Amino acid sequence: MARRAALSATYEAPPNIALVKYWGVRDPERALPYNSSLSVSLERLRSRTTVRFDAALAHDQVTLNGAPATQGPRDGVVRFLDRIRAMSGLDLAAEVRSHNNFPTASGLASSASGFAALAGAAAAAAGLRVTPRALSQLARFGSGSAARSVFGGFVEWRAGARSDGRDCYARPIYGPRHWPSLVDLVLLVEGAPVKGVRSADAMQQTVRTSPLYAARLRELPARLGKIRRAIGSRDAPRLFPLVMEECDSFREVCETTRPSLDYLTATSRAILGEVRALNREAGRPIAAYTHDAGAHVHVFTLGRYLPNVRGRLRRLPGVERTLTLRPGPGGRLVRSGA
Ligand code: DP6
Repeated sequence: MARRAALSATYEAPPNIALVKYWGVRDPERALPYNSSLSVSLERLRSRTTVRFDAALAHDQVTLNGAPATQGPRDGVVRFLDRIRAMSGLDLAAEVRSHNNFPTASGLASSASGFAALAGAAAAAAGLRVTPRALSQLARFGSGSAARSVFGGFVEWRAGARSDGRDCYARPIYGPRHWPSLVDLVLLVEGAPVKGVRSADAMQQTVRTSPLYAARLRELPARLGKIRRAIGSRDAPRLFPLVMEECDSFREVCETTRPSLDYLTATSRAILGEVRALNREAGRPIAAYTHDAGAHVHVFTLGRYLPNVRGRLRRLPGVERTLTLRPGPGGRLVRSGA
C-alpha cells in the first residue's frame, strides 16, 4: 500500500474593500500592478481554507463551500498550488477545502479573502517559512487584491518600481482599532449581475482602451498620499470626498473602456446619488460611497451618523440587505501539522 504523506494547514483571511483601487497590471508574469492601492480589511467575514498535500491523491481536489469547484475557480487554485509546489519542491497533489462564512452569491469579493487564505494554508502545509510580507507577495499571484487581505486594519499595497517585484508588497499602515468610529455600511443590491469578465482581464482592457487611464495613473500617487494622511488623522471630512473622487475615477475608466465596463445597477446609482444628497443636506461630508467591480456599494460613515445614513439608504428600492462592518483583523494560521 502506498505510504501516506499528508502535510496539512488551515488559514483564514478577511475580504477587503479598496479605498484606492488596484486596476491595471504592468507585468502579468510577476503579477505587478501599475499603481499602489489602499484598503480596509473587514471584520467578521472570513474565508477559511485547509490545504492537505497527500501522496495518495492522483489529482488536486478543490471544494468551495462544500461543493466541487467549477472549472474556472479550480484552475486558479491548481495554478496557485503549482507555484507552491515549484517553490517548495513538494511534488504531491493536494486536497483544498475552502469555506466563506458569508454567501459567495452576496457578491462580496471572495477572491481576495479566498486567495489570501489559500496562500497562507498552502505555504504552511508545504513547509514554506514565509513572513507576512512574503505571504502578501505570494497571494497576489492568485488575485491581486488578495495581497492586502493578509493584513488587518488599513493596508497599503505598494506597486514598487523594481522589475523583479521585490519592492511590491502589502503592509499594514494603521491597525484595526485605529479609528473605532469609522463604519462600512455595505448595501447589497438586488439583481447584482454575476461578473462576466474576470477583473484581471477587464483591467487590462481598460489599460489598452480607456483614454482616461493615463491621467488616472498620474493623479493616483497624490490622491493615495492624501487618503493615507486623512486616515492617519482620522479626518472624515477630508477623507470622504477623496474616497468618492477615487471611486468616480475608477468608474470613469471602466465606463470609457472599449467595450464599456458597467458594473452598477440602477439601485447602485441611486445609492451614490443619495449619499451625495445626504452630504449636501448636512452641509459637510458625513458619508462616502465606494464600489468594486460589482453592483454592491460600500458606504463609509461615522457611528454617530449611521442611524440617519442607514435609515435613508436602506429605504431605496432594490436595496436587499445591509451589513454594518468595521475594520477587522488580518489573516491568521489556524492550524498546521500532518
Ligand atoms: C476593483 O483581480 O484582485 O476590486 O477579480 O476579485 O480576483 P478579483 O480581483 P482582483 O481585482 C480587484 C479589483 C478591484 C479593486 C481593488 O480591490 O483594489
